Amino acid sequence: MERIDKTKLPQHIAVIMDGNGRWARIHSVSRIEGHRKGSESVRDIVRTCREIGIKYLTLYAFSVENWLRPATEVRALMGLLEKFLRSELQEMQDSDIRLMAIGDIEGLSRGVKKVLREAIEKTSENKGMVLNLALSYGGRDEIVEATKRILKDSNAGKITHEDITKEIFSDYLYTSGMPDPDLLIRTSGEYRLSNFLLWQSAYTEFYFTDTLWPDFRGEKLIKAIADYQNRERRFGLTSDQS
Ligand code: FPP
Repeated sequence: MERIDKTKLPQHIAVIMDGNGRWARIHSVSRIEGHRKGSESVRDIVRTCREIGIKYLTLYAFSVENWLRPATEVRALMGLLEKFLRSELQEMQDSDIRLMAIGDIEGLSRGVKKVLREAIEKTSENKGMVLNLALSYGGRDEIVEATKRILKDSNAGKITHEDITKEIFSDYLYTSGMPDPDLLIRTSGEYRLSNFLLWQSAYTEFYFTDTLWPDFRGEKLIKAIADYQNRERRFGLTSDQS
């Protein structure tokens, strides 16, 4: 197995979990079975991140665009999410994992919202790692929502245009208070951001792999982290400066 330097870990890893459908086609099973297998990878990656000491893990579980998929698939994805939240709550408590969510949470079904809120509430004091689920999430929607909320606060006299800085703007995003991702992984050989963390990934390192999400397990994550650790992050400066 690849070796990683525990003193140079990315603080925040974000993942676009892509390729469940193609995995299903290759294995001649339904797309829904592909998503089910993908939720096993979710468990494995959460566990691995916690074990090695990652502080924030953000998973793109459902995009705003995903609502346009066939109703049966949307229902199945919501069902898997609900099942995951129910079955993993104890594990999150035992491993000191705090659950958070970003996206248009109000737009989720009542059932999902209920278990999600419960899990967020029950794990809110946990300090070991933040598992942040992007649900009904869209990066552009997030920026538009932030802008609307700034205007509202401005109309209420709470903020003026002179107060607005990058830091203040960040505080109006769903990810308020979280560090930007250091490493963003996308599986399944696609090279797109797909409306994920547009603002937050300004200086993020990207890692693309052909592995399909249901095959992306702990050892593949370690490989991605090792690759990240071999890079030089300059944030716009020269090598000497950084
Ligand atoms: C992309 O595969 C994956 C998704 C749209 C959803 C991700 C959901 C899971 C991994 C399972 C449930 C989530 C949790 C948190 C338990 P795709 O269907 O776009 O694959 P394709 O591009 O090969 O068709």
